[in-house]
Amino acid sequence: MSTDVSRLEDLLLTEREHWTDGPPHELFAQLRAQCPVHWTARITEYPDEDGFWSVTTADDVHAVSRDWQTFSSELGGVTAVTDSILPLELQRAMFIGMDPPKHDRLKALFQRGFTPKRIARHEDEIRAIAVRVLDGLAGRETADLVNDVAQPVVSRVIHSFMGVPEEDDAVWARLMNAILGAGDPDLNPEGPEAVMQRDVPEIFERCRQLIADRRANPRDDLTSVLVHAEVDGERLEEHEIVMGFFLLVAAGNDSTKATYASAMRALIEHPDQRRLLLEDPSLIPGAVEEALRMFPAFAHFRRTATRDTELNGRRIRAGDKVVMWYVSSNRDETRYEDPDRFDVRRNPEHQAFGAGGRHFCLGTALARLELRILIEETLARYPEMELAGRPVHAESPFINQLKTLPVRLAP
Ligand code: HEM
Repeated sequence: MSTDVSRLEDLLLTEREHWTDGPPHELFAQLRAQCPVHWTARITEYPDEDGFWSVTTADDVHAVSRDWQTFSSELGGVTAVTDSILPLELQRAMFIGMDPPKHDRLKALFQRGFTPKRIARHEDEIRAIAVRVLDGLAGRETADLVNDVAQPVVSRVIHSFMGVPEEDDAVWARLMNAILGAGDPDLNPEGPEAVMQRDVPEIFERCRQLIADRRANPRDDLTSVLVHAEVDGERLEEHEIVMGFFLLVAAGNDSTKATYASAMRALIEHPDQRRLLLEDPSLIPGAVEEALRMFPAFAHFRRTATRDTELNGRRIRAGDKVVMWYVSSNRDETRYEDPDRFDVRRNPEHQAFGAGGRHFCLGTALARLELRILIEETLARYPEMELAGRPVHAESPFINQLKTLPVRLAP
């Protein structure tokens, strides 16, 4: 698909037609070359929403991400369509939707639990979960790596951190998928309205029950930390606890699953690259970084301008939405040679976890560890796995993930 410059000016980047089969990488390449800070005038599916600026190069994404005074996470929502995931007031009750100083104080509550050192202590436990799920496939010819492998593993891992009982894993995963993938017809067959009216209240009710339990019976889990935390001498309010819980469960259930599935697909489709990992598993951590670069689990996050400013020659006004497209910045040809090539030896820096700044992902160490273990254990058992059907992408300009990845385990 090739679009000339005059049409680039008219381009409406979040229209569904551009996202039916994953991110429109060719369009992003044209934007980086010809219109790196681009204005989308409207979002047809959400006629009440304003348009937005798209930031497509790695340098500009970095500049926006670092400057929280000019580009606020709190003023508007955290995604291009403000109300697509959760109402604005609920986004603002999560620290991903706050600005400093409150953001920093809330995030600090968790940071100690998520350092690489602390997370490394969970390696055996996480490996045991991955092994149990993969061994559960024994005797089967085919499997769906998204729903049969990635989802149960990442759900159990984050739920064990939070204290959600195992029998509730599947229902939490279903609810989270429906909320984050609200626009996708498979993840949410009944449409965004049903999510808001039925799934969101259901999930909050479940959160409240768990929180009430931990109030009465504190345990060694992150929910107990939230319930008993004090920020500036004050306990968190109920909705802040619920939303803190929601943020961690949502982030943990979704993103790592997406990167695992995309990485496995790339390895299946590039047998030479898979061979390199089979011959030398010490390359797997670098392959994880390359998968994060090429297939960032979130296509974008958003800020809102607090004042009139300028970015790469474009005038941005106070109140404008500013969207940072990681799916584009991670393939910026000024940073990466041959950016569309999957190369497990590249071991790149990237912006999949955000581009530095206050909102840099809390879960990087956990995500990296889960991805390494999952890929190690999958390749060790099924080195010859091949596709058994068409991988299907979620239709979303926000979550960048496969809904299914059907494979033949041992051809
Ligand atoms: C491959 C896996 C993951 C990817 C690609 C990813 C990506 C991101 C990105 C891009 C942001 C920045 C949002 C912004 O700048 O506004 C973010 C924030 C965050 N992530 Fe992750 N994430 C992943 C895994 C996880 C996991 C496993 C957790 C589990 C706890 C997690 C928890 C969070 C939290 C709490 C924030 C908000 C940080 C803040 O606002 O200060 N993430 N993530």
